[in-house]
Amino acid sequence: MADDYDPRLYGARWAEHYDEWHAGIMDDEGAVAALAELAGDGPVLEFGVGTGRLAVPLAARGLDVTGVDISEEMLAQLHQKSDRVTTVLGDMTTVQLDRRFSLAVIAFSSIFVLATQQDQVALFRNAANHLMPGGRFVLETTAVTAPSGDGNSRLRVVKLGHDRLVLSAGVLDPMTSYYNGAWVVIEPSGAKFYPVQGRNAPHHELDLMAELAGLALENRWGDWKGGPFTAQSTDRAEERARAATRDPHRCWRSRPRSSAPVGHGPRGPSGRHQPREPARAGDPRSRSWTRANCRTVRCGARPGPR
Ligand SMILES: C[S@@+](CC[C@H](N)C(=O)[O-])C[C@H]1O[C@@H](n2cnc3c(N)ncnc32)[C@H](O)[C@@H]1O
Repeated sequence: MADDYDPRLYGARWAEHYDEWHAGIMDDEGAVAALAELAGDGPVLEFGVGTGRLAVPLAARGLDVTGVDISEEMLAQLHQKSDRVTTVLGDMTTVQLDRRFSLAVIAFSSIFVLATQQDQVALFRNAANHLMPGGRFVLETTAVTAPSGDGNSRLRVVKLGHDRLVLSAGVLDPMTSYYNGAWVVIEPSGAKFYPVQGRNAPHHELDLMAELAGLALENRWGDWKGGPFTAQSTDRAEERARAATRDPHRCWRSRPRSSAPVGHGPRGPSGRHQPREPARAGDPRSRSWTRANCRTVRCGARPGPR
């Protein structure tokens, strides 16, 4: 991890330009329609809600939307557009809200802004803990592939104008998958840096994180229209330039605790981990066990977001 990693830095630098620079890059309309269908009439929780690119139009459809973000600056931009989204300033890996949601979502590779694998697993667990029985967690990321180009570093031109050059540069640490990068905007008045830092994780690793959180994969799509995810799935110039395929929008549901992997307990005298003690009434684990077991979970059924 970079010494200067601070999760609030992204918003502090990007907030002012975020909407302008991201306009038209993503399939916002498709995402909103698909998420609205997956949520039904239930409440929606978005982690890393940012300026409300998705949360604002979802709330405008009449959905009850809560958004968590660690950046005051990003949330301030959201509030300028709408007062219909309930916002919470906090860390998505640890925030605890006193309610449950039918849909939790983290979009636009925002899980990769987290710096470590531990944080990413914590996010999955936190998402699972905020779901109603049978609730869904949807995650959108780019598909991470092996670094291309010169070793583990990347440099590409994003935009070139008469008085402006925008570069995207970064270095990937192959041992931790931590990407330390930035967009660099060079103008006659000087250069500005917009950090893009965090940990990349391939889709199979994300699937394991979902398993650890007791979630069962329900679906995987290559786009918001329900298209298949294949090695050729790619629809963003930026991702093509990085030789990355566009990742699935994955959807997991809570499932019976008994089929979830057993967590590790403390190490015993042999050095091996002992099984965890069974959860007792009042223990948060037993609550989630009961919640999950009183539902029939449809696994593999394709609801088809659109
Ligand atoms: C790439 S932006 C995505 C914004 C929005 N979801 C979208 O799709 O346009 C990532 C967001 O995650 C937020 N973020 C970064 N680390 C966070 C953390 N630990 N907890 C909550 N939000 C975080 C950033 O402030 C930023 O708003």
